[in-house]
Amino acid sequence: MSRFRHLISIDDLSKDDIEHILKKTDDFLEAAMGRERPRILEGRILVNLFFEPSTRTRMSFESAMKRLGGEVINLGSVEASSVAKGESLADTVRVVSGYGDCIVIRHYREGSARFASMVSEVPVINAGDGAGQHPTQTLLDLYTIRKEVGLRGLKIALVGDLKYSRTVHSLIKALTHFKAEILLVSPEALRLPEELRENGRFAECSLDYAVENADVLYVTRIQKERFPDEDEYRKVAGSYRITARMVRDSDVLIMHPLPRVDEIAYDVDSLPNAIYFRQAFYGVPVRMAILSEVML
Ligand code: ASP
Ligand code: CP
Repeated sequence: MSRFRHLISIDDLSKDDIEHILKKTDDFLEAAMGRERPRILEGRILVNLFFEPSTRTRMSFESAMKRLGGEVINLGSVEASSVAKGESLADTVRVVSGYGDCIVIRHYREGSARFASMVSEVPVINAGDGAGQHPTQTLLDLYTIRKEVGLRGLKIALVGDLKYSRTVHSLIKALTHFKAEILLVSPEALRLPEELRENGRFAECSLDYAVENADVLYVTRIQKERFPDEDEYRKVAGSYRITARMVRDSDVLIMHPLPRVDEIAYDVDSLPNAIYFRQAFYGVPVRMAILSEVML
């Protein structure tokens, strides 16, 4: 019996549901590396509907599905689909929900995944809706933290574009379940929206303070595509950058949902604190756990 039918917002999950997925992810680690081949989703089809660019989310869902014996079909590029002829999101979702057993959707409009779940015949997973939510990323972020430092007594600094990053908006909500202490480090124009500051333990601080005091720095890209105008983006572009010199003598772990642009220098990659590529790998076992939860 599945704990949830759709996965739209991290708010849809209780702390117990989150812990259930994290525990289940442990069971899929070997399969994610190709060392075991549990064909538990054989005969099932995943439908990928990506209206925005993606590398990790789309491909790790594909990898997860295929490693579990399932198949994947894709909308492909939006320009090559009938969306280009003016077909509505509702019609697209209604139709493709007849072609598979689960839909993964990423869309530039906030609320689109919730809307899709209302017209779909099959479970819908939100792979990012505008500046709204990215719940599967949050589950892999939590899994990474749990594995690398533990979630208990966590002090985490969220760094960068806290206004538009959906990964931050989702993660914050989940962190409150674990009573984490949250440090906020951002340019003035990219501060965390007030409505997301409820119920948490938040403090704004400098990057230096965060490097010295936090267990984890969760760095984000400036979400250029969400700015209403290019001039506003130019004012903040390049305003923060983590370099090896800044973190080399600290134990702080560095995470990033990726892709990075210039906010983490390449010289950080070889430090033991840089865990963002491992974090990206955990997307596969976490998504195996999610797919098996909604489809079995
Ligand atoms: N890949 C993440 C997202 O789609 C983070 C980013 O794009 O900066 O939200
Ligand atoms: N982290 C993440 O969502 O990456 P993509 O945008 O490449 O899917």
